[in-house]
Amino acid sequence: MQVLNSLQDFKAWVREVKKSGRTIGLVPTMGFLHEGHLSLVEQAKAENDFVVMSIFVNPAQFGPNEDFDRYPRDFERDSMLAEQAWVDVIFAPSAEEMYPRKSQLSISAGPLASVLCGASRPGHFDGVLKVVTKLFHLAEPDIAYFGQKDAQQLAIIESLVRDFNFPMEIHRVATVREKDGLAKSSRNVYLSEAERKQAPKLYEALKLGKKAAMQGRDPVSEMKGFLQSETSGVIDYVELLSYPDLTPSPDGQAILALAVQFERARLIDNIIFTLK
Ligand code: PAJ
Repeated sequence: MQVLNSLQDFKAWVREVKKSGRTIGLVPTMGFLHEGHLSLVEQAKAENDFVVMSIFVNPAQFGPNEDFDRYPRDFERDSMLAEQAWVDVIFAPSAEEMYPRKSQLSISAGPLASVLCGASRPGHFDGVLKVVTKLFHLAEPDIAYFGQKDAQQLAIIESLVRDFNFPMEIHRVATVREKDGLAKSSRNVYLSEAERKQAPKLYEALKLGKKAAMQGRDPVSEMKGFLQSETSGVIDYVELLSYPDLTPSPDGQAILALAVQFERARLIDNIIFTLK
């Protein structure tokens, strides 16, 4: 496995692979790897000649009062796990390398970013689009892999690729969970012991909500009541929307999504299912 930090070295490697006619699968991450990230790698391995994992904690997608500075980082451990998963190249640029000058332009995520995490994290998805656009142009992947865990991000990136004819595909990977149902996340390390015990209730709430929705009831109030009685977290949102267009009153593919703020970690989770 190679670790490349400069854009120049990375582009040179990509050029060689492209010249040989082989395919590249890209797995963008912010590091602090867990089995969720590694399941993206596994799928990428099965579908491409080479797998690139980018590890970059992207300042552009964090708000001024968010956790950019204390976002967990452990490059040694990440590179060990990536190597064990047969990643071919880790691309790990510095912020100066990725953003050498103050950029004048941005890509707006538009109405898809007006709900769920987009509503509580203004500018977040514009920052995600900025970095993934750069990564897509640098890595020239045939396929890039994203997790359903961040379903709104996935919908927005699928839109980006479709609307602007990026010559590549986006593949979705199912959410990987702990045995007790908690969705794996780099931020889970910030849960206190008591909060960690409550955290599986988020997935339970989603399953409860799905049942209610399938039976024609409003899932949101039931889920909020459940979360308030079962966790100490503060509910940011609980919503039922269509997927992937994220509009109200779904009648086909639907997403139930929630965000709960604990003392030091904001957790999100969702399930996607067909209504009717
Ligand atoms: P990060 O949170 O590191 O996640 C990287 C990828 O792993 C995303 O596609 C995310 O959806 C996926 N992922 C995270 N937890 C998962 C789980 N439990 N099961 C399955 N997949 C999971 O998302 C980002 O980084 C950034 O926004 C990024 C796209 C890299 C842009 O900076």
